[in-house]
Amino acid sequence: KTKILKVDLNNIDMDSLKEAGQLISKGELVAFPTETVYGLGGDALDAKAAEKIYKAKGRPSDNPLIVHISKYEDLEMISKDLPVEAKKLADKFWPGPLTMIVNKNDKVPYETTGGMDTVAVRMPNHPIALELIRQSGCLIAAPSANTSGRPSPTEAKHVVGDLDGKIAMVLDGGEVGIGIESTIVDLTEDQILVLRPGYITPEMLSEVIGKEVKIDPGIIAQDDTTKPKAPGMKYKHYAPKASLVLVEGKQNNVVKKINELVQEQHNQDKKVAVIATDETKNKYQADVILNIGSRNDEDSIARHLYKILRECDDLEIDSIFSESFQTPRIGNAIMNRLLKAAGHQVIQT
Ligand code: TXA
Ligand code: MG
Repeated sequence: KTKILKVDLNNIDMDSLKEAGQLISKGELVAFPTETVYGLGGDALDAKAAEKIYKAKGRPSDNPLIVHISKYEDLEMISKDLPVEAKKLADKFWPGPLTMIVNKNDKVPYETTGGMDTVAVRMPNHPIALELIRQSGCLIAAPSANTSGRPSPTEAKHVVGDLDGKIAMVLDGGEVGIGIESTIVDLTEDQILVLRPGYITPEMLSEVIGKEVKIDPGIIAQDDTTKPKAPGMKYKHYAPKASLVLVEGKQNNVVKKINELVQEQHNQDKKVAVIATDETKNKYQADVILNIGSRNDEDSIARHLYKILRECDDLEIDSIFSESFQTPRIGNAIMNRLLKAAGHQVIQT
């Protein structure tokens, strides 16, 4: 049975964190909040714990896990040939939503890295996550705490919905702040690449290291001629049960087109949802209008994305039409997830 413990962010109950930390150090799994999404944690240097994580998530075991640390020295402890950029990026962005890929040493089992000679490492910016790492005395391997193929969890109830009965404990620290997974940057090659876009953009990374940072061509390609470098980016992810179509263009055109598409679906007796914003939510006639946030606050759009995709499943929607969110800073990260969820079905108006 899974134990669910509420933890107050502003007044963390140390007994709960000690109990959770002990479970991790005994090889059990504990889900916990980070600033990006909830993670499913286990001892990163214990091959058996890593295997348990894959099993609980139903995740292919060639898809490596991110190792979460609470101090920079832990990065040095598990890596080799650390490039100078690692320190610069850590000084600027850790703790925070940035995962660095570096060469691993023998301390890290291949079970944790999905057989790779590199390891993904991140210091999360969340008091519960950091305290859990310290209390466990371990480094914590943690993928997002969802069943493989479902949207990442941004609330404890999403974790419970997917993993109840399969893990020892869930620490419920409320809704997360960012809502999409960390930026992954690969430091193991001369050309530094972002393997997964997130809150921290390539431009922000470039500025700190004084070198150009590119986006992995494999995640932009829509065909499968160029493979993404992060194994996890090749899987069909985040797909809601309903069909999802994105509509792009000027706001008025988008609203008009979506209303036409909704009407067509209604003529076929389908249940239809529209993903809209504060600015447009009153302009649609659908069964369900899902308000993702405000265009004046792009962070709000990122924060609500996964929750809304999960709601579409819960409400047993047949078709979803969504506006497009090419917002200035994290638009890339949002659209990367949304385009995948839509299987790249996009209509231009
Ligand atoms: O924000 C986050 O990063 C969250 C929270 C819990 O920290 N974690 C997360 O983990 O998103 P996960 O397992 O859902 O995604 C990890 C991604 C996968 O796409 C995986 O393929 C990639 O990181 N990855 C891990 N190790 C790698 C490596 N050595 N080389 C390339 N990609 C790697
Ligand atoms: Mg994930």
